Amino acid sequence: MEGSKRFVRHTRIIVTHYGGPDALRVVEEECPEPKDGEVRVKVRAAGVSLPDIMAREGVHPETPLAPFTPGWDLVGVVDRLGAGVSGIEPGQIVAAMPISGAYAEFVCLPQRELVPVPSGLDAAEAVTLVLNYITAYQMLHRSAKVRPGQRALIHGAAGGVGSALLQLGQLAELVL
Ligand SMILES: NC(=O)c1ccc[n+]([C@@H]2O[C@H](COP(=O)([O-])OP(=O)(O)OC[C@H]3O[C@@H](n4cnc5c(N)ncnc54)[C@H](OP(=O)(O)O)[C@@H]3O)[C@@H](O)[C@H]2O)c1
Repeated sequence: MEGSKRFVRHTRIIVTHYGGPDALRVVEEECPEPKDGEVRVKVRAAGVSLPDIMAREGVHPETPLAPFTPGWDLVGVVDRLGAGVSGIEPGQIVAAMPISGAYAEFVCLPQRELVPVPSGLDAAEAVTLVLNYITAYQMLHRSAKVRPGQRALIHGAAGGVGSALLQLGQLAELVL
């Protein structure tokens, strides 16, 4: 019902000031409406990685001005299309890397920022592939331009990027 749209509410997290976990607040507000060219996504899982914590602390170079909603990456389901959007349907599973804003029930993003995700994947598992694995992939294939059989030393191979480097390094047939 068109008239009831303004009563749809959602929750999101806000970093009120740069600092520890006490800087996080939950706010309830009107659900965002997608603008022209945007898609509203219902977030199923958002990543929690080192850059999210650095942004909360205000020490990451790409930290937004406080107050802001954190959340570097997400996997969600297409919920509503803005004007001029085509080629994507409500119900489709997508991933995105908005850098901030993913710690929300709903987020509106430009259609061009959405990447389709195969259905049937667990959203919390799939979201781990977005920031950390893109970072690791770029290091291996765009910066180092690795080739099969080469040796690689991975520092801190227990963390987000380090674990991704181990798995992507195996796929690239590196000697680890
Ligand atoms: N995540 C990204 O997409 C991204 C993007 C660009 C750059 N980076 C950079 O990549 C690096 C790793 O980031 P990350 O996101 O993978 O972080 P992370 O998930 O926190 O992993 C860091 C790993 O390093 C280990 N570690 C920290 N200090 C150590 C020390 N002194 N000796 C041995 N091990 C140590 C940690 O072990 P414990 O857990 O036991 O402390 C953890 O396993 C950081 O420098 C970050 O700024 C990350």
